[in-house]
Amino acid sequence: MLYYYSFTPRSPTINMKVWVDGCFDMFHYGHANALRQARHLGTHLTVGVHTDADILTHKGPCLMTQSERYYAVSQCRFVDEVAEGAPYVTSVKVMREHGCQVCVHGDDVVTGVDGGDVYAQVKEAGMYVEVKRTPAVSTTNLLQRMLSDSNSITCTSTTAITTNIGGTIDMQKICEFAIDCHLQPPPPLSRIVYIDGTFDLVHVGHLAALQEAKRLGDYLLVGVHDDRDVMEHAKKVPIMSMEERVLSLLACKHVDNVVIGAPYAITADFIHKHRISMIVVGHVFEYKPNSLDCYAVPRQLGLLHTLAPHAFSFVTVESILRRVVERRDEYVRRNAVKGQKDAAMRARGLV
Ligand code: CTP
Repeated sequence: MLYYYSFTPRSPTINMKVWVDGCFDMFHYGHANALRQARHLGTHLTVGVHTDADILTHKGPCLMTQSERYYAVSQCRFVDEVAEGAPYVTSVKVMREHGCQVCVHGDDVVTGVDGGDVYAQVKEAGMYVEVKRTPAVSTTNLLQRMLSDSNSITCTSTTAITTNIGGTIDMQKICEFAIDCHLQPPPPLSRIVYIDGTFDLVHVGHLAALQEAKRLGDYLLVGVHDDRDVMEHAKKVPIMSMEERVLSLLACKHVDNVVIGAPYAITADFIHKHRISMIVVGHVFEYKPNSLDCYAVPRQLGLLHTLAPHAFSFVTVESILRRVVERRDEYVRRNAVKGQKDAAMRARGLV
């Protein structure tokens, strides 16, 4: 078995195509970390993503639609190819159709609607490798954080979310993850584009904005506000801690570097120090207070650019929380069933 943070990259086997499949609902750094480890095992990574209908049958309702989930996975830097609509029960035939020789999965047992191990066939064929799951994050866990919040939210832009911030991660873990992202300093004379924000949940709305921002230059620098600043300025508690948000952002293929704890208001010194050519804002402001004109200096300098609406402009933290509120009972049931399944697996010593 390969271990999460003690994972040692090794020379990939020549032309080894790796397969990972899953729901990848509310794509997060735990998913990215599984894909990171899987990518090390070969020369090409295909990620099979299940349909909404299949997931509903086997697990319960998704929070993000299949087109949102396909897009989120495609934006991960460790992914070479997305196999849309991959079957929930993994089949050797489908893997072979994609030319994959090995299937990688986190170290939990996934059962289908009939209670059977969905990886039974690939395990029998000797094509299965396990990597250690990333602790303290999962779709179930993120949903739980949102379900706790959704009692108190009314989904207005001024609503303060009243929970503790989830998951803390130490620097060593961020560094290990970052090493595999192969971050490089900007080449001389490159056009550096800067975009900042809270990036809570690092959802498809953010990912599409990052993709658009990257198109405007050669190097994309992303500023992430720390939890204290978000609470002070936006009067909201982010659902993900800053460290979690940084890891999810690093996993995005368009991100060249991240400024951790970036200033809310952008100064001339900051622009100069980071050699920024253009400051980009989306047209949706999720966590920026109206009272503070954070972009006064870039505007004066003629460096501010507003992105055009993109395919996932309608996705915001608020709209995601609204989905949770609207289908609250279904998600509570989904998490309860998942919790029971996990407890049964633990009791049998399978996780
Ligand atoms: N994964 C992981 N670490 C996590 C979460 C997921 O390594 N913290 C891995 C899973 O083991 C799987 C892949 O990511 O190999 C896709 O997982 P998926 O089932 O889609 O997501 P989860 O976040 O585990 O969802 P849930 O909480 O519903 O099980």
